[in-house]
Amino acid sequence: MNVDIIILAAGEGKRMQSNLPKVLQPLGNKPLLQHVIDTCSQINKSKLHIVVGGHNKLIQSSVKAPRSTNWVLQRKQLGTGHAVKQTLSSLRPNSCVVVVYGDGPLVRIKTLKKLISRTSKDNLSLLTFEASNPKGLGRIIRQSNSKVVGIVEEKDASVSERKITEVNSGIMATSSKNLKVWLPQLKNNNAAKEYYLTDVVSCCHNEEKSITVINLGNSEELLGANDAQELQNLERIYQKEMAKSFIEKGVKFADVNRVDFRGEIVIGKNVFIDINVVLQGNVSLGNDCIISAGAVIKDSKLNKKVKVEPYSVIENSQIGDNSSIGPFAHVGPGAELEQGVEVGNFVEVKRSKIGKKTKAKHLAYIGDGALEAEINVGAGTIFVNYDGKNKNKTKVGSNAFIGSNSSLVAPLIIGKNSMIGAGSVITKNVSENKLALGRSKQKNIKKR
Ligand code: UD1
Ligand code: CA
Repeated sequence: MNVDIIILAAGEGKRMQSNLPKVLQPLGNKPLLQHVIDTCSQINKSKLHIVVGGHNKLIQSSVKAPRSTNWVLQRKQLGTGHAVKQTLSSLRPNSCVVVVYGDGPLVRIKTLKKLISRTSKDNLSLLTFEASNPKGLGRIIRQSNSKVVGIVEEKDASVSERKITEVNSGIMATSSKNLKVWLPQLKNNNAAKEYYLTDVVSCCHNEEKSITVINLGNSEELLGANDAQELQNLERIYQKEMAKSFIEKGVKFADVNRVDFRGEIVIGKNVFIDINVVLQGNVSLGNDCIISAGAVIKDSKLNKKVKVEPYSVIENSQIGDNSSIGPFAHVGPGAELEQGVEVGNFVEVKRSKIGKKTKAKHLAYIGDGALEAEINVGAGTIFVNYDGKNKNKTKVGSNAFIGSNSSLVAPLIIGKNSMIGAGSVITKNVSENKLALGRSKQKNIKKR
C-alpha cells in the first residue's frame, strides 16, 4: 500500500519565544523537523507532504527532504485539522495516510511501521501514551467499555477529563478516503477557535468505524516540544538514547548525563568517553580510543587507540593510530597526524601534516607545516607562518630536532637529521645533518 505521510510544520511556535520557527529549533544540533523527516523517509513506498506556514522559505532551505517531497503552504494557521486539509488534493487514492507533528522528533521508525500495519481502509489508528504530566496535551476519551470515542483538548476539557493521563501523541493513520470525508466536517467551535485534527476521532466513532489505539505506556518517544523547557527535556532524552545505542555497540561512558552528540557520529568498540565530551558534525572514533573530560571533537576522524587528554579541541582533522593529543591542545582545522604522533600540553596544530612518531609535547604553534617522521619539536617552538600578508609553509625533514623556544620563519625548509639550537630564529633553509644556531653568542662578563 502507498503511504502518504503528512508532517505538520506550519505552527508559529509562539510558546518557544524565539525568532527561529519551532520546527527548526535544534535537537542534537539538528532541526526538530529534520529528525522527523529522516525517520519518515525510511518508510517504504512513502511520499512526504510537509505543511509549512509563514517561514516556509526558511524552513525549506534549512532541512534536507527527499526530492519527491510535496511542500504544502498553509497560509493561515487555523489549526492542525485545517493544516492536514491543505494536503487533501495531493493525497493518493486509497493510500494509508499518516499524520505526524514536526515538533515530535523522537518517534521511531519501528513505531510508525507498527501504526501503519494496524491501519486498514476502514479504521483509524492512533498512538497514545501515559503522561506523568499531561499538561497541554489532548486527553483520550474512552467509554466505560474502554472503547475510544474522541479526544478532548486541554483547553476544552472538564475538570474530570483533565485528570485523564492517557494522551494523544498527535500521530495517527487512516485512509485518504476517510480523511476526505472527515476533514470537511471539522468545526472550530472550541476554546482555541481552531480546526482540530483530533476531532476526526469522533468523526470515525460516529461512522461506527473502528479506532485502533496503540498505547506506548510511559515511553518518552512521543513527547513533543512546545516551549524551551520541553525542548531541553527532549534534548537530554535524545542524548541518553544516543549514548544507550553506543553502549550496545561496546562504547563506555563515565556518565550518560554528561556527554553531547551533535551530528553524525560513528564510534568503534571499547572506546571510553569521559564526562562533558562534545562530538559534533561528522565524527568517527576508531576502536580503543580514550576521550577524556571536556574534549570537543568536530568533523574529524580518529583512528584506533587515539588518546585525547582533557580539554582538547580537535576540528576538521585526521588522527592516526596510537596518537595522543593534549591536555589542552588545539588540533585543526586541517591537521593530518600519522601514527603515534604526540601533540601535548598547550600545543596548537593548524593546516599541517605530521609524520609518524613526531612529538610536540609542550607549548608550540605548528601552522602550515609539513613535518616528516620522528621529529622532536621543543617546547615553545613557533612556526612563524604569517608575514602580515601571506601564509607560508615550513617543511621539516625526519629525525630533525627543533630546540626549545625557536622561531621557524616561513617559507622554510629544514633538512633531515638537522638540529636547531634552542632559542634560534631561523630564517634561512637548513640542509640535512646540520646544526643551525640563529641567536647571539653568550658572553660571560666579569661582575663588578
Ligand atoms: C497537539 C494536539 C494534541 C496532542 C499534542 C501532542 C491538536 C488539536 N492537538 O497539540 O491533542 O496531545 O499535539 O504533542 O492537534 N500546526 C500546523 N498548522 C496549524 C497548527 C499547528 O501546521 O495551524 C503544526 C505545528 O507546527 C506543530 C503541530 O502542528 O508541528 C502541532 O501543533 P501544536 O500547536 O504544537 O499542537 P499542540 O498544542 O501541541
Ligand atoms: Ca505540540
